[in-house]
Amino acid sequence: MQAFLKGAGVGKPLKDKGPAGPSADKKPKTVPWVEKYRPKCVDEVAFQEEVVAVLKKSLEGADLPNLLFYGPPGTGKTSTILAAARELYGPELYRQRVLELNASDERGIQVVREKVKTFAQLTVAGTRPDGKLCPPFKIIILDEADSMTAPAQAALRRTMEKESRTTRFCLICNYISRIIEPLTSRCSKFRFKPLANRIQEERLLEICEKENLKYTRESIEALVQVSEGDLRKAITFLQCAARLNMDKEITDRAIVEIAGVVPSKMIEGLLQTCFKGTFERLEVTVRNLVNDGYAATQILSQLHESIIESDLKDKDKSIITEKMAVVSKCLSDGADEYLQMLSLCSVIMQRAAQS
Ligand SMILES: Nc1ncnc2c1ncn2[C@@H]1O[C@H](COP(=O)(O)OP(=O)(O)OP(=O)(O)O)[C@@H](O)[C@H]1O
Ligand SMILES: [Mg+2]
Repeated sequence: MQAFLKGAGVGKPLKDKGPAGPSADKKPKTVPWVEKYRPKCVDEVAFQEEVVAVLKKSLEGADLPNLLFYGPPGTGKTSTILAAARELYGPELYRQRVLELNASDERGIQVVREKVKTFAQLTVAGTRPDGKLCPPFKIIILDEADSMTAPAQAALRRTMEKESRTTRFCLICNYISRIIEPLTSRCSKFRFKPLANRIQEERLLEICEKENLKYTRESIEALVQVSEGDLRKAITFLQCAARLNMDKEITDRAIVEIAGVVPSKMIEGLLQTCFKGTFERLEVTVRNLVNDGYAATQILSQLHESIIESDLKDKDKSIITEKMAVVSKCLSDGADEYLQMLSLCSVIMQRAAQS
């Protein structure tokens, strides 16, 4: 408490705020909609039919293989296993039987050796306190497993094998290539697909209905467009738009603004400068774009689309997209946005000059 008071007091009078007490509890809680509308049971998981079918079979019978869920963000991986575990054990047993570890927990080799192993070694009964049958094993969920170190993954192999009588593992990741082969071969693998536009639309409309939102048809289309199969992103943008617009109608313009999409006129302008302008003009255009706060990754993805659709020769397109892949990697490693954009645009300029 001392530390809290000290920290909170910096530069602000504490008098009115005080530590969170009973009065703070009275305010209606604003829950992020992604949590509020997280599927509660396996049946509510949309669009991932294969994995849902397998899980439901396992829920009926009493066995479950070790699982590996992989696929792009916001497609239901975490939600699916949490819902399945809740259905298997019910709310009371859930705490005893499910160990959830994600990237925010320390998961080096030490943790695998101690925490995971100790939990895996506990034996469990096959009935629930309410008398219902439940599987005689525990589940260890290792979310964001691709951020586990290789030695920690290696340490997991033995544990996985040795404790197979009492424990099932569910590994979740975005990039399956970052999971070591001996682990992937011990699991049933399920790829989660980016959600189809129609499915996303249905979900978003359902939320609009429940939250009593006013919206235009185009705004929902825009949401689906900018989120590229990531339903979490779409729901988050919707909640932002609802908060910003309060009583007004949510429009596609609001969505585009929130999502930080670069107006197509600007992308078009940038390309025209690459095709016909001078290097000085190009430098100024790129600098302005970056200074306006548009994310380089966003500019990159929109440029990519425009280049693919342009009239450039195939050879030039392939050289440019190869450069894009390099720029994308540099950006994800934290390189300077302005320099990366300029180097990409320089390549586009060179190719355009030669064709
Ligand atoms: N298939 C789906 N069916 C229903 N809701 C979904 C689905 N996929 C995503 N959602 C929605 O998006 C939110 C985020 O989903 P979830 O956390 O399961 O994604 P994830 O695949 O684990 O993503 P990440 O790889 O980023 O961890 C959920 O709370 C839910 O509202
Ligand atoms: Mg997840």
